[in-house]
Amino acid sequence: MNAPLRIALIGAGSMGRQHYRHLLNVPQARLCAVADPGPQAEAFAAECGVPCFADHRHMLESVRPDAVIVANPNNLHVVTALDCIEAGVPVLVEKPVGVHLEEVRALVEASRRRNVPVLVGHHRRHNPLISRARQVISAGKLGRLINVTALWQLQKPDSYFETPWRREPGAGFLLTNLIHDLDLLRHLCGEVEQVQAFTRSDVRGYANEDSAAVLLQFANGALGSLTGSDAVAAPWSWELGSGESPVYPRQHGQPCYLLAGTLGALSIPQLKRWHYAEAGAGWHAPLLQSEESIPAGEALTLQLQHFVRVARGEQAPLVDAADGGRTLALIEAIRKAAESGRACMPEQVV
Ligand SMILES: NC(=O)c1ccc[n+]([C@@H]2O[C@H](COP(=O)([O-])OP(=O)(O)OC[C@H]3O[C@@H](n4cnc5c(N)ncnc54)[C@H](O)[C@@H]3O)[C@@H](O)[C@H]2O)c1
Repeated sequence: MNAPLRIALIGAGSMGRQHYRHLLNVPQARLCAVADPGPQAEAFAAECGVPCFADHRHMLESVRPDAVIVANPNNLHVVTALDCIEAGVPVLVEKPVGVHLEEVRALVEASRRRNVPVLVGHHRRHNPLISRARQVISAGKLGRLINVTALWQLQKPDSYFETPWRREPGAGFLLTNLIHDLDLLRHLCGEVEQVQAFTRSDVRGYANEDSAAVLLQFANGALGSLTGSDAVAAPWSWELGSGESPVYPRQHGQPCYLLAGTLGALSIPQLKRWHYAEAGAGWHAPLLQSEESIPAGEALTLQLQHFVRVARGEQAPLVDAADGGRTLALIEAIRKAAESGRACMPEQVV
């Protein structure tokens, strides 16, 4: 039996603390240090019984952790992860993997050159509900995928924006939230070839967008739309629909993704499926419906268990830096499309 993996946490804000709570469910790992220059970090580290450092480089040198979770603000992800890689320490870096594709390419290169794995925190891919949806699609139950509709419509309280970095460039709901949905759409429906988009920022009036409408053309020919806003009193989002996290009171029965193919349709997170008894029977025949109940599961715990295996060299990361970069490329294409009014293709990240 291996000794528990010693994991350090860089960035002990709200997400870092969530990781810590989930780490308590993973006997194969334990927290060994916190690095965060913020005023609350000392007390948190003392609560966890581990040393606290203001500077993560100092922590890496003194503690020499086996692995690191990076959950600091978005624009520090790549520089911090690069320091970990240079120290030879496997990294779980929160999403977005970075804020610009160029810096992410440097991370991909360093991870490969030093042979140090990077797992990007697109934790929803670890959710059993998503694994089941992927099985349904790959088993051909939907036939040829034709239409994809994704919704991320909810309201963040004004207090969320009291943290300055959340109002500044490098944050915004495209990069902070829709990136999860776009990552799942890539995971479920395949790569996106082209996007068109509109964004607005005048509901909240901050530097970042607060509403968006995006058209997606997938490489397999499927056509999709994604509409979202963090300023609307609405129930359609993974957060409110899936029950993945208890901090969001659940809206049972409300979909966030609707996938329609030639043989059937699927709504997520309900895993409700529609099909005709006889393929192609069409609109005069009854459309049959079934529903599966898959508990949303502890995706963050499952992600940490996976990270332990990645850090030990037993598995390749489910979402490596290049894969996280491809989701970021989609965000960049959406931004460019919204600015230019033209269709844009995501840049390749290899
Ligand atoms: N996977 C998810 O579902 C999910 C959910 C929320 C946030 N996140 C991601 O987690 C990250 C943190 O978000 P948050 O909501 O916890 O933000 P937060 O502001 O609550 O926490 C950020 C923490 O980083 C610390 N910090 C700032 N500079 C630092 C530095 N140089 N070194 C170390 N720590 C530093 C701050 O003091 C703070 O404690 C973001 O990248 C965000 O996108 C992911």
